[in-house]
Amino acid sequence: MERVAALGGYLPGAKITALGCYVPPGVLTNHDLEKMVETTDQWILERTGIAERHIAPPEMASSDMAVEAAKIALANRGIDAAELDAIIVCTVTPDMLFPATACLVQNRLGAKKAWGFDLVAACSGFIYGMTTAAHLVKAGTHKKVLVIGADTMSRIIDYTDRGTCILFGDGAGAMLVEPTDEADDAAGIGFIGFNNEIDGSGGDYLKQPAGGSRMPATAETVAQRLHYVKQDGQNVFKYAVRKMYENSRDLLERYGYTGKDVKVMIAHQANRRIITAASERLGMTCDQVIINIDRYGNTTAATIPLATRTAIEEGKLKKGDLAIFAAVGAGFTVGVNLWRWAY
Ligand code: UT7
Repeated sequence: MERVAALGGYLPGAKITALGCYVPPGVLTNHDLEKMVETTDQWILERTGIAERHIAPPEMASSDMAVEAAKIALANRGIDAAELDAIIVCTVTPDMLFPATACLVQNRLGAKKAWGFDLVAACSGFIYGMTTAAHLVKAGTHKKVLVIGADTMSRIIDYTDRGTCILFGDGAGAMLVEPTDEADDAAGIGFIGFNNEIDGSGGDYLKQPAGGSRMPATAETVAQRLHYVKQDGQNVFKYAVRKMYENSRDLLERYGYTGKDVKVMIAHQANRRIITAASERLGMTCDQVIINIDRYGNTTAATIPLATRTAIEEGKLKKGDLAIFAAVGAGFTVGVNLWRWAY
């Protein structure tokens, strides 16, 4: 990784030092959905790869899952929340529009000296959060930044719309980013680079129309079901395959790599066919690609940490391994990060 000369010294690199994940215990299976909308287990499995997803109980909100994931990450690192410098909560399902979920999480954790904010980039949210955290650390101004992806998608999904209700689940994941002196070059440990992008011309293809300042909540917006996710699935699908491939390819090329050099691709879990199509174009084999969408569905900002946990559990991600995180989401947003795993 490139080191930047600072006034009289060098700025550090950034590495991931801990991971924590949480999913609520309740499970909604494809067979459950067969009783709710006109669909079949076979259709959902074949078209998406999803078998089941976790759903939060009514009393649980995004901050509750975020706190659970954060506590696990902090315990894994063996540090107290009071040591955190910043907390970034990536979510499209905040507990409320304000205060930010980051404030609720900071208070619950007792992260006394942390500042923070919510980051809205939908399915690319966690990767944008990690990009931001890496740069806060690389700037030399932050030593411990906690990035949390938490989404309670079940609260904004229309369970009468078979095109969307089969896709999403609830969950949260957190990663801790800290400085490193090992990141001397691209072969070092930690953050290597990013290739993020937004294309706002795609905004209409995936959105929650009502509830903001454009269309505040009224009896009419509720009656018209405008507080639920609306999606043009085919257009999102095509864009996701193309951009997950192109942005990953370009980032790898920038550092002299191809898909074959990557140990694992940790891709946003929106549809198994999207992940397979993008990774095949990158020249990767299925051994290099992490898939856990069968168990969790699309948890929006939580898929990247959840898939990272799966990679570690499957023994596919160890210290020194090259990992590419890639996601495409509402906006459109595209997020791709290259990291060399640090523990
Ligand atoms: O993370 C955010 C980004 N989101 C995504 O990446 C989602 C991207 N899109 C997709 O994953 C896919 O487009 C879907 C899974 C949402 C839909 O799959 P598809 O293969 O694109 O299906 P389609 O929309 O082209 O629909 C094909 C047929 C239609 O029936 P007709 O018109 O051919 O008779 C749909 O009505 O499948 C029907 N259909 C269903 N049938 C059974 C749509 N949803 C269902 C369903 N069960 N749940």
